[in-house]
Amino acid sequence: MARKAPRSIGGRVIAITGGARGIGRATAQALIDQGAKVAIGDIDAPLAQRTSHELGPSTLGLALDVTDRASFDRFLTEVERRLGPLDVLINNAGIMPVGPFVAETDETARRIVDINVHGVINGSKLALERFLPRNRGHLVNVASVAGKLGFPGGATYSASKHAVVGLSEAIRGELRGTAIDVTIVMPVVVNTELGSGLRRARGIRKVEPEEVANGIVQALQTGRVDVWVPRSIAGLVRSNLVVPRSIADLVTRTLKGDRVLVDPDHDQRAAYEQRTGDDTPEPRAAEAEPAEEPQAV
Ligand code: NAI
Repeated sequence: MARKAPRSIGGRVIAITGGARGIGRATAQALIDQGAKVAIGDIDAPLAQRTSHELGPSTLGLALDVTDRASFDRFLTEVERRLGPLDVLINNAGIMPVGPFVAETDETARRIVDINVHGVINGSKLALERFLPRNRGHLVNVASVAGKLGFPGGATYSASKHAVVGLSEAIRGELRGTAIDVTIVMPVVVNTELGSGLRRARGIRKVEPEEVANGIVQALQTGRVDVWVPRSIAGLVRSNLVVPRSIADLVTRTLKGDRVLVDPDHDQRAAYEQRTGDDTPEPRAAEAEPAEEPQAV
């Protein structure tokens, strides 16, 4: 297949969901460094605004609830009004509560699916409604290696990320023949609040959010479909999917890949668990703030 010519990121209008912190924030920074016009949307509207202040004057920080299609539409409409036609949407917002599957409440399972799956479905539809008439644009969906393998302790999370991978593959097929790109991002554990207190698989380091951001920058420059972070994990995951199951299980157990989401350090993870637990403000609480009318700061 012919390689697409490298493209410049300078001046491109890029919206990032869940961009107030973590991978989204690091990605916003990396794209601003490349000269992009970046908008971050987050359920935590005050933090989105603070982050955008810190990232620079040309950055927008807006309220967004990815589970609410109307909120998502308002977000993208405001981004286009302020920055110009959308070139890239990065569906990054996601949550990862962990624990034994049978102990998970129905409410938690629904919240994971709502944010991690419906959020990406909403964003992908709304971006493509804008991209298709222009026959250009780049959709970046942040999945995980848990979108290819199943991790004990993160059953519903793994299911949600498999959904993101499958969704992205199918959309890509529907876009064949257009100039619109789709990228799927699949990191191992990343050093963010979401990744706090987790175990490491043997020989697989925790990566920094900046490394994920660099992978996304390169994908926007090249049109790369699969972004594995670190790159070396691709071979391990792919080979685990083709060898006999007994060998795959042995490799997984030897590397302790099946322990990564089991028995996390709850002290280290306390801030994250509190933020994403039942005490998390209802999504609409952030939207009811005066920042409801998306504002740049
Ligand atoms: P994070 O928790 O640091 O940041 C996620 C952001 O999403 C937060 O600012 C949060 O407020 C926002 N958010 C949550 N619900 C939202 C909603 N309904 N609408 C809008 N924004 C919402 O998480 P992190 O680590 O930066 O993760 C980003 C993405 O990367 C997620 O999709 C995650 O599943 C994925 N990922 C993370 C890995 C890790 O180990 N940190 C590994 C592989 C994938």
